[in-house]
Amino acid sequence: MAGNPKPPRLWRDVVLFDGHDTRAEPMAVVVEAGHISRVMPMTELDRDVAAGCREMGRGGVMTPGLVDCHTHLVFGGSRADEFEQRLEGVSYEEIARRGGGILSTVRATRAASEDELFAQARPRLQALMAEGVTSVEIKSGYGLTVADELKMLRVARRLGAALPVRVITTLLGAHALPPEFAGDSDGYIELVCREMIPAAAEQGLADAVDVFCEKIAFSVAQCERVFEAAEAHGLPVKAHAEQLSNLGGSAMAARHGALSADHIEYLDEAGVAALREAGSVAVLLPGAFHTLRETRLPPIEALRAAAVPMAIATDANPGSSPIFNPTLMLNFACTLFRLTPREALAGMTAQGARALGLHERGGGGHGRVTAGAPADLCWWDAESPAALAYAVQPGRLRQRIFNGEVTHD
Ligand code: NIG
Ligand code: FE
Repeated sequence: MAGNPKPPRLWRDVVLFDGHDTRAEPMAVVVEAGHISRVMPMTELDRDVAAGCREMGRGGVMTPGLVDCHTHLVFGGSRADEFEQRLEGVSYEEIARRGGGILSTVRATRAASEDELFAQARPRLQALMAEGVTSVEIKSGYGLTVADELKMLRVARRLGAALPVRVITTLLGAHALPPEFAGDSDGYIELVCREMIPAAAEQGLADAVDVFCEKIAFSVAQCERVFEAAEAHGLPVKAHAEQLSNLGGSAMAARHGALSADHIEYLDEAGVAALREAGSVAVLLPGAFHTLRETRLPPIEALRAAAVPMAIATDANPGSSPIFNPTLMLNFACTLFRLTPREALAGMTAQGARALGLHERGGGGHGRVTAGAPADLCWWDAESPAALAYAVQPGRLRQRIFNGEVTHD
């Protein structure tokens, strides 16, 4: 016979941000068997219920566990040298054209073993977790051969198995043109469609497929072929689009029912309308905006007016966003993009989950504090949810709760 089941766990008198809004009154949250069982105002917390629970915390702020819906945190090497070049005035695009940028990380990633990539990625992921991340998306895209892309995805899966965090993997084979296909980008897209996607799908290594739709990467037509291959293998799609120019990649992605269009500084009205129509999420990446010293803002007002869900992510990667700090992104989203703290927090919780298709998985509720949802939560030492975006102050996470278990206190 099994031992005594664990008593329900109770956090009481918390200021609750539920994934969309801050509740007006002090709240109680009860967790049982890995799920949130009850969420109620303190005035409704029955003495008997409280007596039957193990009290885990009192006061403070509770939010859903943070969802970082766009990262490239598995990679080899470093691009600190390019950081210096960019400070001297060389642009990100120019560095890419000279064979640096993504391709310099590709060389280092190909040269690294699976164990080396794992060892290098682990502390990056732990840095995200220490600031509240309970679900994270990890993209491939620095291998650009079938074997190296699968290697990256296996590392991402291993990270999810080794650490108390939910890892969602995305195959980003169409990230850059590898040197061996120079002058033959259609040939490379063939490889992505005919070999990479089928292999990743067969081995269960990819939860979604992404593309980089840009002049320095792949055309709208090429990205569409990748999406068709993904669809043939039952994989949802998303796109890096309208980051450096407006090619219409987001609208094409929306036509394919994309989970999200990401970056989108150059998105126009038609693109906004297409995202709204498709129910795709606009993923805003203020870390890349900041690092590249971009001046063109994503069309926040238009997205808001159209009620397109907006998510926020770190875009953690060695080039355009070497930033492994999710709460800093809450602040950047407000200061750089003029999101409200509420929008920024929703962007890293409920909307981030939506950008990963998590909101429909396993009974739903990911990225939200609601009865029946998986108990992925953060309990913070802060006076209000907005304070999490207001102050750039790492270290305020008192407890990180993953699947109902406290993993950080
Ligand atoms: O999200 N835009 C393309 N891909 C990444 C950057 C990757 C890199 O520079 O290594 C991004 O910004
Ligand atoms: Fe990215």
